[in-house]
Amino acid sequence: MSENQSPSTPTNPKHRWPEGAIVYHIYPRSLQDTNNDGVGDLQGIITRLDYLQDLGVNAIWLSPFYPSPMADFGYDISDYCNVDPIFGTLDDFKQMLDAAHDHNIKVMVDLVANHTSDAHPWFIESRSSRDNPKHDWYIWRNPRIDPVTRERQTPNNWREALAGGTAWEWDETRGQYYMHSWHKRQPDLNWSNKKVRHAIKAVMRFWLDLGVDGFRADAVDWIAKDPLFRDDDPNPDYSEEEDSPYDALKHNNSRGWPTEYAYLAEMTSVFEEQTYKDRQLFMVAETYQERHNPADAYVAFYGGIDPELAAPFNFEGLYLGWDANAWRRFLKSFHAGLKGINQYCVPSYAFGNHDNPRMVSRLGESAARGAALMQLTLPGMIFIYYGEEIGLPNVDLPHAVMHDAYYRSRDPERTPMQWSDDKNAGFSDADSTWLPVSPDFGFRNVELQKQDKKSFFNLYRKLMHLRNESAALRYGAIEIIETNHPDVLGFVRTSENEHAMVLVNFADRPALCAPDFSGGELLLSSDPQTELADAGNGVEGHIQLLPHEAALFVKQR
Ligand code: GLC
Ligand code: CA
Repeated sequence: MSENQSPSTPTNPKHRWPEGAIVYHIYPRSLQDTNNDGVGDLQGIITRLDYLQDLGVNAIWLSPFYPSPMADFGYDISDYCNVDPIFGTLDDFKQMLDAAHDHNIKVMVDLVANHTSDAHPWFIESRSSRDNPKHDWYIWRNPRIDPVTRERQTPNNWREALAGGTAWEWDETRGQYYMHSWHKRQPDLNWSNKKVRHAIKAVMRFWLDLGVDGFRADAVDWIAKDPLFRDDDPNPDYSEEEDSPYDALKHNNSRGWPTEYAYLAEMTSVFEEQTYKDRQLFMVAETYQERHNPADAYVAFYGGIDPELAAPFNFEGLYLGWDANAWRRFLKSFHAGLKGINQYCVPSYAFGNHDNPRMVSRLGESAARGAALMQLTLPGMIFIYYGEEIGLPNVDLPHAVMHDAYYRSRDPERTPMQWSDDKNAGFSDADSTWLPVSPDFGFRNVELQKQDKKSFFNLYRKLMHLRNESAALRYGAIEIIETNHPDVLGFVRTSENEHAMVLVNFADRPALCAPDFSGGELLLSSDPQTELADAGNGVEGHIQLLPHEAALFVKQR
């Protein structure tokens, strides 16, 4: 950086690809099936790249497609450097990667580094005896013995995150427990062992050598645990009705230990190796902050990592609640905090993913449209979960067809993509698909929505194109403005030549606001019934928004 560039320059002068990028999150089982077994595959992704390019996505992130017994649908990996036959072959992956690059789309793959499958050769070896070469690649502990009954007890009170049961599984052969932060078929790797860290870095190099552009790093908080294995504390804020059973405890010792930053730095150090340092590689980490002060928690995380190489996911679109005040407060302190670190920090907003209820099911249709406009005008990386662009809802599935082991099944948000009103919504020609297609596909599908100017699809597509074409939306600084209405959030994104103003009415009633910004031209509203463009609006600086309406205005500087 040259001396005369101000250190508060809001964006990275090098403009790496993640800055402002729209990342489409693909759940490979559910995008497109090409061999009619009812499960999506890598060839299927290839057939949809034209669609993704036309939609305006800049990158894709693929949930795991590696060999796996599928106890956690691919997040239990038995071979890090291959493709599960259900998704295709390594050659299919290479084809997919090249085809994506030909479409100007970057590719991020999932890096599940906290745990493997119990079918991974490393674990099979590790559990075979107490003195095999990989005996300490996983977390093995002796039992505690109850002083009175002499019965065997788990080493401590740590729980697994899927259903909230004990995190310890007894193994007869070793006469010890192994630890699993998730499913018992997902034993945790021992990150305090340098050999494990080296092995994961070798996995990263494998995918980088094939040409991927970055990683989404799974469940990284769990890689760092209290080396003394002390009990977790009870969670005083726990609500049995609202929280998962896992959250009855705070996870103060079983995850998020300060060594996490050092481990993450070791992972991203691969990007700086001679072979890779001239490529723009990036890692987005799945991490969960304490909820008391999320903005500060995220900022602290950026402070712990190297923001030129990595960023934590920002999950406020999932957790904050649809509330103008909460967002105003959050955006102000989060973005001010990032500015205070350096100009390289890339925010990374995910409003949906394969672990959470879908946007329209959480917010309702009109607020979900407003949320889409808001998300796609925020700074940084924007993660769109497949299907959100057609307003796919959670699908009500009968218990008998569900697979997921999470306490609240995640299958309703993982159903097949709806392309057309053909058989199985054009997802597959199979007689049955791995999860049923939502019965609404006859009237909710890509083909129909393409023809309807007012559809979710056309809202997303317009938003993505506007973002891609606007330096302000893509790279600009953000400033929260006064709107003189409690339910209306306002912010302005600024580049050298333009100002873009966004207004979001969080309430389900109309709002007459008076933002501190004038003279802009309406570019887009989230509500097809909008009256914003009508004469009278903007008079004396007043703007009338419909219930849940969000709108984007632009003016030249
Ligand atoms: C992450 C994934 C989730 C998975 C878990 C264990 O949270 O997003 O789907 O179950 O990690 O790998
Ligand atoms: Ca298939």
